[in-house]
Amino acid sequence: MIFAGNYFRCANRESVRVVSSAGRALFACGPMAGSETHDEGSNHAEQEPLTTDCRQVTGWICWRSQNHTGAAPMRVLSQLFANNRAWAEDMTRREPDFFARLAHQQTPQYLWIGCSDSRVPANQIVGLLPGEMFVHRNVANLVVHTDLNCLAALQFAGAVLRVHHVIVCGHYGCGGVLAALRDDNLGLIDNWLRHVQDVRSKHHSRLARLPREQQRHDRLCELNVIEQVANVCQTTIVREAWKRGHDLAVHGWIYSLSNGLLQDLGMCVTSDLEMSKCYEAACIRTNDD
Ligand code: CO
Repeated sequence: MIFAGNYFRCANRESVRVVSSAGRALFACGPMAGSETHDEGSNHAEQEPLTTDCRQVTGWICWRSQNHTGAAPMRVLSQLFANNRAWAEDMTRREPDFFARLAHQQTPQYLWIGCSDSRVPANQIVGLLPGEMFVHRNVANLVVHTDLNCLAALQFAGAVLRVHHVIVCGHYGCGGVLAALRDDNLGLIDNWLRHVQDVRSKHHSRLARLPREQQRHDRLCELNVIEQVANVCQTTIVREAWKRGHDLAVHGWIYSLSNGLLQDLGMCVTSDLEMSKCYEAACIRTNDD
């Protein structure tokens, strides 16, 4: 959007009306009746200022409140705001005090460590509502011993929120895992995916016996989850929690993009003593199919 005084031209034909939290219109944008195309080259600065919805006039016009003195607004993703309003209304209809309750406190039972992949929305695939699961996501669902971001989420979830379950969830078809498997050069991300390549090296013999790349990809997705569960268990945070007698289970799951189903990789660790036995058993189990 390009500003011209109190007007700006809209380059993407969005119908937008943005209001402040007090309900005051900050700016609006919409199609004008009688105009089939949006003339991006025209200067709307000569149009009469509008104070509410601008769809009543001809052509495309965008209007900014004369009272709004902030910096030029970013491009507005109007559909997402519309979706958000519909979602908030729906949630409120189902449970009138939903947001009031959540604003007061969150009491999740689980910490989810998953991939950033847009096809694996953590809450949704396990049917949980906001407030019911604490979520940390990164490319290829990695738990790196020096990743302060992940460690902080783990520490906060355990010590403050007192979650009892940490779920590391990978997914078949993971692009990050495939790039690591193929030695792709994607730029900076290669350094992050080096951790998956370490998993690949560690389990070279398990992977090498699989003839097809698809099989090796699936297996590396599984082994990566198992290794990340082990990494969670080896953090000072989890070891200390177990030492203090805090009930904490660390689970390894994998999600299938093709049918939407989760599978337990059989690595559920509830104490320091169980760790190596669970790890070995889970690695061996991946050879079964
Ligand atoms: Co992924």
